[in-house]
Amino acid sequence: MTTIRPWLMFLLLAWNLEACLGRHGEGFHPLPQGGAVAKIYAPHAQQVSLAGSWTSWHPVDLVDVGQGWWELNMSSDPTTDYLLRVGAAYKIHIVSAGETYWRPDPWSRSQDGTPLGNSISYFDDKFHWTDSGWSMPDWNELVIYELHVGTFCAYPGWLTSATLDMCIHKLDHLVELGINAVELLPVAEFDGKVDWGYTTAYPYAVEEAYGGPDAFKRFVDACHGRGIAVLLDVVYNHLGPMDLPTWQFDGWSENGLGGIFFYNDHRAETPWAHTRPNYGLKEVRAYLIDNALFWLNAMHCDGLRVDGVSFIRLWGGTVVNRSLATFNPEGERFLKELSQAVQRTGKLLIAEDLQSNSSLTSRTHGLGFDSQWDGQFHWTVLNQLKRPDHWRSMAQLREAVLGAGEGLRRVIYTESHDEASRFRLPLAIAGRDSWVGSRLSALGSALTLLSPGIPMIFQGQDFALQEPFTAYKPTNWLHKLTHAGTFKLHQDLIKLRRNLLKTSRGLLGTGVNVTIDEEAKVLTIHRWHTEVDEAASAASAASAASGGDVFAIFNFQGQALAGYPVAFPGAVAPVAWTLAVNTADARYHNVATVFRSSELKDPGQGGPQSRERSASSLGTDAFLHPYSCQVYTLR
Ligand SMILES: *[C@@H]1O[C@H](CO)[C@@H](O)[C@H](O)[C@H]1NC(C)=O
Ligand SMILES: *[C@@H]1O[C@H](CO)[C@@H](O)[C@H](O)[C@H]1NC(C)=O
Ligand SMILES: *[C@@H]1O[C@H](CO)[C@@H](O)[C@H](O)[C@H]1NC(C)=O
Ligand SMILES: *[C@@H]1O[C@H](CO)[C@@H](O)[C@H](O)[C@H]1NC(C)=O
Repeated sequence: MTTIRPWLMFLLLAWNLEACLGRHGEGFHPLPQGGAVAKIYAPHAQQVSLAGSWTSWHPVDLVDVGQGWWELNMSSDPTTDYLLRVGAAYKIHIVSAGETYWRPDPWSRSQDGTPLGNSISYFDDKFHWTDSGWSMPDWNELVIYELHVGTFCAYPGWLTSATLDMCIHKLDHLVELGINAVELLPVAEFDGKVDWGYTTAYPYAVEEAYGGPDAFKRFVDACHGRGIAVLLDVVYNHLGPMDLPTWQFDGWSENGLGGIFFYNDHRAETPWAHTRPNYGLKEVRAYLIDNALFWLNAMHCDGLRVDGVSFIRLWGGTVVNRSLATFNPEGERFLKELSQAVQRTGKLLIAEDLQSNSSLTSRTHGLGFDSQWDGQFHWTVLNQLKRPDHWRSMAQLREAVLGAGEGLRRVIYTESHDEASRFRLPLAIAGRDSWVGSRLSALGSALTLLSPGIPMIFQGQDFALQEPFTAYKPTNWLHKLTHAGTFKLHQDLIKLRRNLLKTSRGLLGTGVNVTIDEEAKVLTIHRWHTEVDEAASAASAASAASGGDVFAIFNFQGQALAGYPVAFPGAVAPVAWTLAVNTADARYHNVATVFRSSELKDPGQGGPQSRERSASSLGTDAFLHPYSCQVYTLR
């Protein structure tokens, strides 16, 4: 059976071609075997043509193949093949209702960087990936670092965006920190060169100022080489609004709105622009879902974070209060199709919806996302950290830690690009380089890394950055030197969260128990992991704390507690517990952080030199430093 029958050969070829065309999808693409294909959706056009530098900008007509689609199969020619593979400028020429339009390719992989400028042909197969041995960490081991390409690795005085290649040079910092996933703010081509990235104009192109598609591949490849997964933020709740190739693409539109790719009535309105995609059209849903698959398959991303999901499944309402918005069944249908398509890749799909709606992560009756940002965790922890000690509610913090029992179906954080653009956490709590701000934000990080969920930290949180995040201000890396203690603390907590020392398997599991002492402002977290049925183990866990369990004791007030009676979990002798991290430890101090006695209401009652309050000892007496967290592991 060594010969392949001719008909089988034909089937294989046909299948290959199909796979190949399927992979290259719509838009304009040079093919591996030479030649190129163009496939454009323009239902209102009388004629669609393609013109590029290789035709001296002479338009070559596409064929109307029905249902609004236009196609062109370009045959192989050595000179043209070469030009297309190195990148040739082109545009789409559309004749519609007697008017002519020159449009960039909405599916283009690369743009020339000027508004509504030329698309640049891109040959996918020229890149040599070296990540064939890569596999994503298990989701319960993920620690995400949210990162903005334009500012992560730029230098002081840098006035434009940094590039993905510059970011590669900073990956060793992330390895040193110990995270194993980055989540990039959107990198799809946007208007201008400096932006957060939420103004996606060309969903399939990598921002030219970031280095374009090859730079993105180099970045992903380099991350994978260092054991770091790459998650990408994608924006499907609106497009643009500036520099939009899809705007009134084939000439048609209603009410002065966006035409075929968009809603042309009140549903177009979003808080950012009147450019909500028309999820009711299967061609538009495919444009966006194929885009998600493009990042996951062709660009080797390991997952996506879908921006503003509540603006897809709902229309109207305001940014802050989505309860006034109206349900959009078409948006929900799009989200379900999107999650089904991503599910088949086995990759991670995260929603940013922020409405505490557990349906989003339900596969049976909900939208089928794997996880979602937990805004409730963020807001609760932030609000509780900011308030004076006696107003700090342990019950609220317990709720934040436990969530609604979502486990990995939530991503938890105390800082993200959104909040960091208003204030960084240490500064939101207290003054610049204040001891209180530093201590309490460290507790925020500890809560994030010790609670059930997928933890995420925002760039610079690992060294207590205090300048608000803007796309124009490079990350101040000097802070890493002056706040080395904060960096070390994040390193040590991340080591525990990932169980790198094989002492803290509990943090990979779903078992969690929280106790609170509202008067003393003490909260404890017990985490455990069992391979066997969690339900069965929960019953016996009280008496069966076992290897890998983690127990953390938080003191949320500025006063030390001496001889505090701590009830360690289970019937295990307290002596079996080993102190792994104490946030009050000198090694976590920053040289830049200063203690000002004025920071505490009653200086005599707090601060490092505080009088110690003794408590009646009933359990194991512990000394709890002011604003501290002690993390114990069980041998
Ligand atoms: C282009 O080639 C594909 C694959 O052979 C074929 O299905 C399609 O009909 C062709 N399109 C045109 C316009 O010739
Ligand atoms: C949102 O608006 C509704 C209806 O006016 C109101 O009942 C609700 O309290 C508001 N929620 C918030 C968080 O403001
Ligand atoms: C939660 O989201 C689902 C899916 O879109 C929706 O059907 C449901 O009405 C939402 N629930 C609330 C309380 O908004
Ligand atoms: C959780 O804490 C409560 C209160 O201390 C205790 O009764 C219960 O046994 C604990 N459960 C587990 C599984 O440790």
